[in-house]
Amino acid sequence: MTLLQVMAAGDAADVRVRTSDDEVIGTELAKHGVTFGRWPVVENAASASSEDLLAHYATNVAELNGSGRYKHIDIARIHPDDADPKWPEIAAGARGKFLDEHRHAEDEVRFFAAGRGCFYLHLGEEVFAVVCEGGDLLSVPAGTLHWFDMGQRPDFIAIRFFEEADGWVGDFTGDKISAGFPTLDELLTAP
Ligand SMILES: [Fe+2]
Repeated sequence: MTLLQVMAAGDAADVRVRTSDDEVIGTELAKHGVTFGRWPVVENAASASSEDLLAHYATNVAELNGSGRYKHIDIARIHPDDADPKWPEIAAGARGKFLDEHRHAEDEVRFFAAGRGCFYLHLGEEVFAVVCEGGDLLSVPAGTLHWFDMGQRPDFIAIRFFEEADGWVGDFTGDKISAGFPTLDELLTAP
């Protein structure tokens, strides 16, 4: 379920908006210059190769990148592998990477082909938690304070768009604000 939950930046318990209505989500985010969109979902995307997924979305990608702004387009994917004894460590490592507040020098543009992840956008006095699922496109403007939670059992496929090869590098603020907010797993189980 795609979800937007807006909370006061100083008090996560102060929930101001909670909606899974795509249109409302798009409208609320657009007020802050954040682009939210939907592309058609591929059945069984999780079992498709990254090459096949990029080929499938070639038209959507070309449309989004009409100006040629994004020079590096790839796929990031992680799936649970309970047969691998190192999986819990791999999952925790991947999850911890962007769990603290940071910003990037360029827009963070992601299309979720499958699975889910939550972007937390720290916009002024509020935090917008956006749970993205298969079919969701999110573009977070450069410089926006944010963090990302892939949950305790990371499982997603995302097309990433970069202007520079190192566009994913985060500038961490050192603020531990993320620790005071519900995790992806908690957001999903909230009433
Ligand atoms: Fe980021």
